[in-house]
Amino acid sequence: GQAQIGVTGLAVMGRNLARNLARNGLTVAVHNRSPERTRGLVAEHGDEGRFVPTESMADFVAALERPRAVIMMVKAGGPTDAVIDELVPLLDAGDIIVDCGNAHFADTRRREEALRRHDLHFVGTGVSGGEEGALWGPSIMPGGSAESYRKLGPIFERIAAQVDGEPCCRHIGPDGAGHFVKMVHNGIEYADMQLIAEAYDLLRAGLDATPAELAETFRQWNSGELESFLIEITADVLGHTDASTGQAFVDVVLDQAEQKGTGRWTVQSALDLGIPITGIAEATFARSLSGHADQREATRRAFAGTGPAWQVADRDTFVEDVRRALLASKIVAYAQGFDHIRAGSQEYDWNIDLGGTATIWRGGCIIRARFLDRIRQAYDDHPDLPTLLVAPWFADTVRAGVPGWRRVVAEAAQAGVPTPAFASSLSYFDALRANRLPAALIQGLRDNFGAHTYRRVDRDGSFHTIWAGDHHEVEA
Ligand code: 6PG
Repeated sequence: GQAQIGVTGLAVMGRNLARNLARNGLTVAVHNRSPERTRGLVAEHGDEGRFVPTESMADFVAALERPRAVIMMVKAGGPTDAVIDELVPLLDAGDIIVDCGNAHFADTRRREEALRRHDLHFVGTGVSGGEEGALWGPSIMPGGSAESYRKLGPIFERIAAQVDGEPCCRHIGPDGAGHFVKMVHNGIEYADMQLIAEAYDLLRAGLDATPAELAETFRQWNSGELESFLIEITADVLGHTDASTGQAFVDVVLDQAEQKGTGRWTVQSALDLGIPITGIAEATFARSLSGHADQREATRRAFAGTGPAWQVADRDTFVEDVRRALLASKIVAYAQGFDHIRAGSQEYDWNIDLGGTATIWRGGCIIRARFLDRIRQAYDDHPDLPTLLVAPWFADTVRAGVPGWRRVVAEAAQAGVPTPAFASSLSYFDALRANRLPAALIQGLRDNFGAHTYRRVDRDGSFHTIWAGDHHEVEA
């Protein structure tokens, strides 16, 4: 075989990845279950580089130079297992299967282990950036063995987005590390989007502004600390007018947010690891809440007309407060996401470099943002940073934002505008900075009803109070 790499699964992401590889000078074997797609790709884009179209899986594998590197871009779950089962008997020891889909990292761990027994490398790889990213340069998060990265690294680093001369790709860690990091990326993506949506909702209600006016606000924000892909496209979406009605596009879209599951996976994993990713969880639940049309309708009817009218005192102050609340809450979301990655890395022994992760999210991916440079800096300076919130730039920014953040959350509560992510992020911050938490009372209650014991502030050991008797304390 003469192809340096192969891509099987030529739906839009796989197809664009294959084109990206070919445009970067690689000879790419391409394969799809229904060969029309393969033919279509070569007919439309064959002049962009060297493609080797193949019709059967056996021909596809035969077209590859050794050790073979096969990228699969198929649906997560059953379809992924089916393609792996088809590939394995055709491959030889040392060959590499790269799963670039959004697989659950636990599946990736299972597959990696199973394929290792066949002396095959299985490389679960997170790819972010949507269709455009896949074509022009995504952010790439490969897991799998260090050995597989020696072959894949130079290829992936070439096709990835580049920021300040650095590729947005690096070896994240063994087995499921790449898919885990991609999963958390998506959790942060959910939080980022929910925060933007809350900011928009608040501005619209508080200022009685039109979506087109707010598009301008987001456009301005995008030239400051909030600069990011998601803020940029928010301006686009808010500025768009629906052709058939002439109304603002955002007003004709059904207000029920969907999800394919990666945000849910992030929250599930955080619960398992005991990491409070409250902003990401609220963002995920906000999507499901929006989809409960019956409950929304019944509650809306029961409580119609009870919201007070809202007029902000000073428009410029309010806009600036919302901007700062957004930035501070966004910092919380990233702090939580990076805590989650650290915990996953410890639990599964992945040795993930947090600063390195921030580095490859600076370009290509959906959450790409100016401030990822600062996250990189923070973790490079202090790899053991207890939380991003205390790194100098972040601490200063949060400190400066707190008064506005509080005003926004308080005013929203008064006006009856839901701000689950803004409010929970502020609570998270206040809880972390509190001298004492009422967790002490929880411990007392647990000991009272179940003799679950508690620890004391002044002595080591575990204690129990004889609540049913004379309330004396015993050492447990
Ligand atoms: C990316 C995105 C992508 C994700 C979509 C849809 O990084 O390119 O995260 O992988 O699948 O954003 O996700 P939801 O359907 O769950 O919103």
